[in-house]
Amino acid sequence: MVATPRSWVIVSTGGSESGQTLWHGRFGEAPSDALLAFTESLSFDRRLAAHDIAGSRAHARMLAKQGIVSAAERDAVLVALDTVDDEIRDGAFTFLPSDEDVHTAVERRVTELAGPAGGKLHTGRSRNDQIATDLRLWWREAGREIGHRIVELQTVLVERAAEAGEVYLPGYTHLQRAQPVLLAHHLLAHFWAFDRDVDRLTDALVRADVSPLGAGALAGSSLPLDPTATADELGFARTFENSLDAVSDRDFVAEALFVLAMTQVHLSRIGEEVVLWSSEEFGFLRLSDGYSTGSSMMPQKKNPHISELARGKAGRLIGNLAGFLATLKGLPLTYNRDLQEDKEPLFDAFDQCSRALLAVRGLLETATFVDKRAMAAASDPAMAATDLAEWLVARGTPFREAHRIVGAIVRNSIERGVPMDELVESDPALGPEAVELLAAGVAVTRRTTPGGAGPEPVARQLVKARERLDDRRTRLVR
Ligand code: ARG
Repeated sequence: MVATPRSWVIVSTGGSESGQTLWHGRFGEAPSDALLAFTESLSFDRRLAAHDIAGSRAHARMLAKQGIVSAAERDAVLVALDTVDDEIRDGAFTFLPSDEDVHTAVERRVTELAGPAGGKLHTGRSRNDQIATDLRLWWREAGREIGHRIVELQTVLVERAAEAGEVYLPGYTHLQRAQPVLLAHHLLAHFWAFDRDVDRLTDALVRADVSPLGAGALAGSSLPLDPTATADELGFARTFENSLDAVSDRDFVAEALFVLAMTQVHLSRIGEEVVLWSSEEFGFLRLSDGYSTGSSMMPQKKNPHISELARGKAGRLIGNLAGFLATLKGLPLTYNRDLQEDKEPLFDAFDQCSRALLAVRGLLETATFVDKRAMAAASDPAMAATDLAEWLVARGTPFREAHRIVGAIVRNSIERGVPMDELVESDPALGPEAVELLAAGVAVTRRTTPGGAGPEPVARQLVKARERLDDRRTRLVR
């Protein structure tokens, strides 16, 4: 027999018995368990409790200032909010199965504690402006934490670069040995990538610094709310210009996801290099025991799992960004429940990136560079080929011609098995003076141009990187 619709409607028994939804007045039947299980956000948005409470404090004060609630009602609510805050911090707060989200949980408890005054807290407010406010407050803190972690990682890169001194290694293009570069130069290349991440992060935080509170569900209010007062109290730089935009704007989440994904991509690229460098084949880097893992079967193994996960998790963070943009793209104004899908990817991206920054930092801080291996790999005379060509250019040979001459020497050396220095010495265009360029460690010293890979520009770069770090440290603190 084909079931009639009524027979498959799951009628809730459990969900609402222990509490009530914020919207039960309009409904004749309790919400089904299936609905609650599918639509709840408490399991992840309880993490916003402190920010939800901060928003409620500001809102309650504003309501009293505007004469919408009395001073006594405000105080009753504020005392209750303090208690809720303590209960949540101490882990003593009881979340009920009927608490659909953190806003419901906090307001329910405030009303239990403050009585009728608690029922006035939500005056002129909607969970739509409330959640947008909470999440911006959360991201302001989380973003700063990421900023600090990036700067700490950059500090390690700078310290290791300073220690690296004259050590050099092959610079690669297409993962083929190209020209020798100072190890410091290579490490600082990653420093500047993270520097851009901090720039992006601080810019994103400036754009996110808008208070949506006072937008109501979507259209503002008939009550004399003062959005500027709540914005000021919460430390936002400004308030919204348009209530419809205020409750539906999640650009700040998308930007946060991008900033985090980009940072993770930078970690991933370091990760890939650590995987290569710590292999027997390269042997440029030895990982410390504390930052590597073993194999359950092969006793000799030491694996670069942090690096692999830094690389692997980049895919996940890119997915969080792409997924959330897909969530946003079809949404009509204004708030739609789809927007609840902003939090899990954002929290996840933050958690993963934050842990990755810490782990990669420790890895780089404790790893040992095998200078001999790195320098030996970069001492192949063929890596001075560009220098030979430029030596010819300095003596009047057009570059194309110089390239051809040196290219022919390299080919000859490979095909006939004759060492390059012999061929350079006997070449009429080059000769004994040019042979000196082939000696180990010479080519890298000839990189003298600004931003180049040799000792002079790298020393200047190091000074700049340090200045940059000092500047970041003072600016990021607030
Ligand atoms: N939990 C929702 C979110 O995270 C906020 C509640 C909005 N619900 C509503 N019925 N307006 O976006």
